[in-house]
Amino acid sequence: MNDAALEVRSLSIDYVGRNSTVRSLDGADLVVQPGEIVGVVGESGSGKSTLAAAIGRILPTSAERSGGDVTIFGRSVFGLDDRSIRGLRRKEIGFVFQNPISTLDPTKRIGKQMRDALAGTGADIGDMLRSVGLADPKRVLSAYPHQLSGGMAQRVAIAIAMARKPRLLVADEPTASLDRTVQATIMELLVQMSRADNTALVIFTHDLRAVAQYCDRVVVMYGGRPVEDASCSQIFDSPLHPYSQGLLAAAVGVEDQGDQLKPIPGAPPVLHGTSIGCSFAPRCTFADDTCRQERPEMRDVAAQMVACHHAERFTERITDLIAARMPDQTEATGA
Ligand SMILES: Nc1ncnc2c1ncn2[C@@H]1O[C@H](COP(=O)(O)OP(=O)(O)OP(=O)(O)O)[C@@H](O)[C@H]1O
Ligand SMILES: [Mg+2]
Repeated sequence: MNDAALEVRSLSIDYVGRNSTVRSLDGADLVVQPGEIVGVVGESGSGKSTLAAAIGRILPTSAERSGGDVTIFGRSVFGLDDRSIRGLRRKEIGFVFQNPISTLDPTKRIGKQMRDALAGTGADIGDMLRSVGLADPKRVLSAYPHQLSGGMAQRVAIAIAMARKPRLLVADEPTASLDRTVQATIMELLVQMSRADNTALVIFTHDLRAVAQYCDRVVVMYGGRPVEDASCSQIFDSPLHPYSQGLLAAAVGVEDQGDQLKPIPGAPPVLHGTSIGCSFAPRCTFADDTCRQERPEMRDVAAQMVACHHAERFTERITDLIAARMPDQTEATGA
């Protein structure tokens, strides 16, 4: 079988401080196939940025790996020497970050930065800029980063990231710092460019709605690891993890109540080591002693992967919900 674009296995990362250690990834698993488009969602602090940085081994120096590994097209990211990891980053992985203006060098014009980034690729800078929707390349090339809008700067960052035709693109909150009006177009651009080049794309975001619209698959993170991994339609029609159900309710709340997000009561955990039970248990209305004492591992329930001891309960509830809807549908179709 061909190698996966990305394989994260039991990855644990701790931030080691003088007085305390924070576990930001707690045995995270994630597999992304070539060309696949995956959205990773989760509240603030769930470990999204740490996972994004671990993929390219661009973690801060205070981060320590206490277990697990990341492989990209079969090559162990943590097993490579410094030169090889630089080569892997240059050839195989592209990154797009939250704040495009700060990821560009403020002291150099865009033209200089693009020429440096694209050196040796044979890519035409004007074509690259036009392909990311910048119709006036001349004006952009002579500008400094601060002279661009956030949306334009992100388009430049995407052009730079895609110039080497990476087989894996990692985007950490690529639209979070942008104006609402341009968020959707930037998301569309990322997805459309990745599809055109058959690049595997992993988007880390808070925005479940955008993920549902643009991704093939959704991975829901909580407490430093994925707790549900399913297709978009599965997550929307039948979220099995109580946390996914809460996130979905919050996302629906956006539509119903203007910008008022209906938060899940309680706060996400700050871990200091491996979580013993389910890290969502303190906020979960269904939690019992098993949840507090036994760590739920990812398992297949009704053809979606979920880390919840009681997921079966929700498949029954969902079957009931669908059954309850049936008479209406029968009436509506006149059958
Ligand atoms: N440099 C750091 N030093 C210490 N702790 C950190 C550092 N970066 C992240 N953490 C902690 O690690 C955990 C995971 O953080 P991370 O930034 O990966 O989450 P996130 O899902 O990206 O959050 P957000 O949605 O706010 O971007 C949190 O508890 C966070 O406080
Ligand atoms: Mg983050």
